Amino acid sequence: MAGRQVSSSSDFRSLAVIVIVAAMLTAAFAYTGGWLSPRRLTPTRIVDSLSPAGGPALGFRRNHAIGICFTGTFESNGSGASLSKAELFAPGVYPVTGRFNLGTSDRSTQDSMARVRGLSLRVLLPDGREWRAAMIDVPFFAVSTPDAFYALQRALADKIHPHAMDDFASAHPEFRRFGQWASNAPWTASYAEDRYNSLNSFTFTEADGTQHVVRWSFAPTVVPQLLSAQQIQKRGPAFLNADITERVTHAPQRWAMLVTVADRGDSTADPSKPWPANRRTVFVGTLVAKEIQPEANGACRDINFDPTVLPPGMGVSDDPFPAARSAAYAISYNRRTAEENAYPRNSVPVGAVQP
Ligand code: HEM
Repeated sequence: MAGRQVSSSSDFRSLAVIVIVAAMLTAAFAYTGGWLSPRRLTPTRIVDSLSPAGGPALGFRRNHAIGICFTGTFESNGSGASLSKAELFAPGVYPVTGRFNLGTSDRSTQDSMARVRGLSLRVLLPDGREWRAAMIDVPFFAVSTPDAFYALQRALADKIHPHAMDDFASAHPEFRRFGQWASNAPWTASYAEDRYNSLNSFTFTEADGTQHVVRWSFAPTVVPQLLSAQQIQKRGPAFLNADITERVTHAPQRWAMLVTVADRGDSTADPSKPWPANRRTVFVGTLVAKEIQPEANGACRDINFDPTVLPPGMGVSDDPFPAARSAAYAISYNRRTAEENAYPRNSVPVGAVQP
């Protein structure tokens, strides 16, 4: 009798432990998934918030959904070795797969309506490492934090509160500067004429361990033809892809990679705050686009241009965006590559040029 009592109370304790552990695991999953805190920012919520009113374009990137692939090289001139031990900066020529793109989640957006253009790169290094980057042609980011980015998407989609955007702008004064840029900055006539900026800051480490916080840009090597909003509308709905295809077919197109080093006191965690123009800037190499490929069959289609894929010698900084972006890009990548029936593909062989 006494033996059975001991055994049933220890059975009860074991069962209680199992129930408690199961409850803790469920709570942990629920917390991670954001089910316990509907207002907390999660990568899933941030990607959902990017969806246009009619729903996402299945099979396509959940942001920057319009683009065109290219292949080429990065020609490192060796000067970057003064800032980072990354193999990228040893003198040499490294293969690149890239993508020119428009900052929109809506596949029906015309070129003249997409105020933000992007450049994405994957550079393969001889030791098997990679560098991936996704940059835009805006001189500063629209908002200071990933939470503010999410709040912006919510305000843009809010059709119930007529003052949602005004309220957002009042709470995020940095957004007004972006609005002024979007309204007044001239447009260029080509992806080849744009300057693409990392905006986020990263940490470069020299061979002796010295560290620098940097941002980088890819500056055009052709003189931009500046257009007004009225002039750009006359160019047609999708002139950018046709233009870059024609230019690259005619001759390789080039951009200079410039690395800018932060001074003490510069805001490294906030991409909405540009650094003063007199900061040390090093020309480290040249991106050369040599062949355009339509996205449906192009080499860039299946790449996640995750900005945290960095070779030794390059790392993230105190800027919270790259980690938030990495998590969101993974969700977008997983969704679009799983949407098999909608996934873009066509019968044009890779390498063939399609307008
Ligand atoms: C928290 C802020 C951000 C979020 C949530 C976000 C979200 C996304 C998502 C979901 C994609 C599609 C990724 C894929 O399917 O492969 C994307 C693409 C892209 N984003 Fe962001 N983004 C953010 C900030 C930025 C910033 C700061 C920049 C530039 C400095 C940027 C530039 C780009 C570019 C160029 C692409 C196209 C990448 C490609 O060609 O695959 N994004 N973004």
